[in-house]
Amino acid sequence: MAEIVLDHIEKVYPNGFRAVHDLSLEVREGEFLVLVGPSGCGKSTALRMVAGLEEITSGELRIGGRLVNDTPPKDRDIAMVFQNYALYPHMTVFDNIGFALKLRKVPKDEIDRRVREAAKILELEENLDRKPGQLSGGQRQRVAMGRAIVRQPAAFLMDEPLSNLDAKLRVQMRAEIARIQRNLGVTTLYVTHDQVEAMTMGDRVAVLQAGVLQQVDAPQTLYDHPVNLFVAAFIGSPSMNLFESELSEPDADGGITVAFGSQPVALDPAIFESRPQLRSYAGRRVIAGVRPEDVDDITLDGSGLPPEQHVRAEIELVEALGSEIMAHFTIDAAAAQTGDPDAIDDVGASEQTKCVARLDPHSSVRLGETATLGVHTARMHFFDIDTGEGIWD
Ligand SMILES: Nc1ncnc2c1ncn2[C@@H]1O[C@H](COP(=O)(O)OP(=O)(O)O)[C@@H](O)[C@H]1O
Ligand SMILES: [Mg+2]
Repeated sequence: MAEIVLDHIEKVYPNGFRAVHDLSLEVREGEFLVLVGPSGCGKSTALRMVAGLEEITSGELRIGGRLVNDTPPKDRDIAMVFQNYALYPHMTVFDNIGFALKLRKVPKDEIDRRVREAAKILELEENLDRKPGQLSGGQRQRVAMGRAIVRQPAAFLMDEPLSNLDAKLRVQMRAEIARIQRNLGVTTLYVTHDQVEAMTMGDRVAVLQAGVLQQVDAPQTLYDHPVNLFVAAFIGSPSMNLFESELSEPDADGGITVAFGSQPVALDPAIFESRPQLRSYAGRRVIAGVRPEDVDDITLDGSGLPPEQHVRAEIELVEALGSEIMAHFTIDAAAAQTGDPDAIDDVGASEQTKCVARLDPHSSVRLGETATLGVHTARMHFFDIDTGEGIWD
């Protein structure tokens, strides 16, 4: 086992494209670290540099304290699991798992022991004599994991290993890979574009955008404390509602409102405890954010939000999911530019932001009606309009 340290790593491809910029990141010993970001942001490039499959332009890479920039892949003591887990179709599961050991001339009884041990962990014992063609997608993925496990590497590197599986299997394998990693305690760097995968699997999650690291934190910290607009928009489903707004000057009692388009909404004073800097933004334009679950139907008991924290919203779409209702509405404020290429913000409609509220399933909001919604303003998010940085302390 070993930690992986990326120290100011750069990657400039021969055509001059800078795919990874000044990446400093530490995967601690035994940790499951997920590198997440939109397609094309440089995740695979970063992972391939760690694996030794891609040259490092500058910076230092250390595995287990050893500088390995110029070490060939086979001498880095790592095992990689890819999205396309190309198994050898003519070989049995046993031979597929043991192949790398055979190449290394590991004694036969040692191969036998390690393959059976891996098969046990992966619950593949019954399938050792089968060929990959006779396996389900999930079983094939586990064989690919088995090939990595038997090598007893210092670290696992995984590049979107679940993206070829159907949705249900993906959820199941997500839990399984996380469980196996925890049992083995092998340092793991896992790459995905899927933020739900990142949140559910990682001890910590590193968010990458356009080759630049944005934030590294435990999943809940990323969610509660995004350092900038990009992370705020990228983490969470449905996404945080983000719009341009203005904070009022303090009133006689020091109260400040935040504009939801033409509707001022009172900020709960508690927000100034978690975001002391916010006071200095009174009277200024900001980017405001509200998580869908921080909006309530005030006609139901329990929201307890005073009228000053209500907004009127014409409901344009209601998705009743049984466990919750997604109510869609539009506010007359410009949408924030988050830099997330997957964001559905309608850039053309400059003074309109589409918003989503995640309501209690017993809410009586109706399509086409104007609903009164309560906003938990103590849990709102705020960002500097020029820099996109979170306004904290
Ligand atoms: N060999 C290459 N030459 C030039 N650009 C490349 C090369 N490989 C990848 N890229 C570019 O680098 C960026 C990052 O690619 P990649 O690391 O594969 O992204 P991700 O895995 O996050 O989807 C992309 O814009 C991609 O087009
Ligand atoms: Mg990739």
